[in-house]
Amino acid sequence: MKITFYGQNSLAIEVSGKHIVVDPFISGNPLSKDKVDINDLKADYILLTHAHQDHVLDAEAIARNTGATIVSNYEIAMHYQDRGFTVHPMNHGGSWQFDFGKVKYVNAIHTSTFADGSDGGFPGGFVIEGEHKNIYIAGDTALTMDMKLIPLRTKLDLAILPIGDNFTMGVDDAILASDFVECEKVLGVHYDTFGYIEIDHDDAKRKFYEAGKDLMLLDIGGSLEL
Ligand code: NI
Ligand code: MN
Repeated sequence: MKITFYGQNSLAIEVSGKHIVVDPFISGNPLSKDKVDINDLKADYILLTHAHQDHVLDAEAIARNTGATIVSNYEIAMHYQDRGFTVHPMNHGGSWQFDFGKVKYVNAIHTSTFADGSDGGFPGGFVIEGEHKNIYIAGDTALTMDMKLIPLRTKLDLAILPIGDNFTMGVDDAILASDFVECEKVLGVHYDTFGYIEIDHDDAKRKFYEAGKDLMLLDIGGSLEL
């Protein structure tokens, strides 16, 4: 499994020969808009954690380019189905066996309104079990006890957690989240994009290190392999 970071919570995942784009917010992200061309992205699936603009901005353009299936909660899926896109609706606690692996839509504590004010259901995250490696994409969330449910079902190899604070967990709560999901290997996301979520990278890495954990921060376009 190869995971590439495009800023904020935007990720590209290659697994079992399939291309998955998560929460594409690239053309409107000052950190990534000059580095990544959304027209270059391949996608068989687009996974959306919630409806906020900094997670869905480029979903329509990428889906139009690629014919990808949009996977999200029921309300978000219907929003895109009404616009003619192929969708796969899910809801919290439900799993589906896709051709690249098993996906579960899990709880997040946050909000989920589209930019026009329409209903984006309730926000979530994804647990993906694929090719012998399992990952958790928390999405935008507070630290929540529900995270303790995840390791009861899935042994994670990587937790992708927001660390920017203000709108989501910050570093200290993300360290506790990695305890809750029982995964010491963390990819930090949802930081630096706007002033509210700028962080000190060295300080964040030091705090994780002192807690016996590994925080990875990728450059825009940087990848890791599991
Ligand atoms: Ni959000
Ligand atoms: Mn966000």
